[in-house]
Amino acid sequence: MSVHTAKRRLAPSDIKALKGERPIVSLTAYTTPVAKLMDPHVDFMLVGDSLGMVLYGLDSTVGVTIEMMIAHGQAVMRGSSNACVVVDLPFGAYQQSKEQAFATAARVLKETGCSAIKLEGGAEMAETVDFLTQRGIPVLGHVGLMPQLINTTGGYRSLGRNDKEVEKIRKDAAAIDDAGAFAIVIEGTVEPLAREITGKVKAPTIGIGASPACDGQVLVVDDVLGIFTDFKPRFVKHFANLAPVMSEAFATYAEEVKARSFPAPEHTFQLKKV
Ligand code: KIV
Repeated sequence: MSVHTAKRRLAPSDIKALKGERPIVSLTAYTTPVAKLMDPHVDFMLVGDSLGMVLYGLDSTVGVTIEMMIAHGQAVMRGSSNACVVVDLPFGAYQQSKEQAFATAARVLKETGCSAIKLEGGAEMAETVDFLTQRGIPVLGHVGLMPQLINTTGGYRSLGRNDKEVEKIRKDAAAIDDAGAFAIVIEGTVEPLAREITGKVKAPTIGIGASPACDGQVLVVDDVLGIFTDFKPRFVKHFANLAPVMSEAFATYAEEVKARSFPAPEHTFQLKKV
């Protein structure tokens, strides 16, 4: 009988166990080469439906399809062996019923090999979260600002600024926590509320625009690298400034091709002299 000694990938239960131990580190990832570079540094990678905007130039996440999520989930799994990988369920692929959510989530797990899914929603999704977790599908919840609801909410502004919003986000987080989510993303929410929820729920909270009071943080990778520069929300920090580096590389390449200085002899195959 062989004994497994190989280091295993972090599981959703490992992420949950980090609450109260140390801050949880997460970023979005969409491609194999970026996942490879990120893998040693993060606890979990989120294949977020933000890829609709970041990679495909869509106006919102509403147009993202299950096929896009599966293709990028597979790419991120191929580029990682340490981090837990969580794939977002796209708009329209889980809200209709808990059975629809199970079928979509099971397909994502089977076809990508990832270990958990994320879905947006509060109290109205609690039954679905419970249904999935009872049937072997770990769920990362997502409350506060929910980008898939843009057509009914009408904007991307931070929430928790009046009693109605505070009460809703409070109830949403508690419902998803009770339903068994292994962690909960809190997006675009004021600090006092994020702090209160973090102190109350069993699951670790992962903030994006929700203050350092959360148990962990997630950001969109293109924001962290300074590739996406159309606008910079307050909660984003560019940890690198790759946009000008990339522009300069493209400009230099164009110049060298036009000047015929690229490809140089060292980039050129010749017949061997015999
Ligand atoms: O789609 C996404 O990238 C997300 C994160 C921003 C939390 O949901």
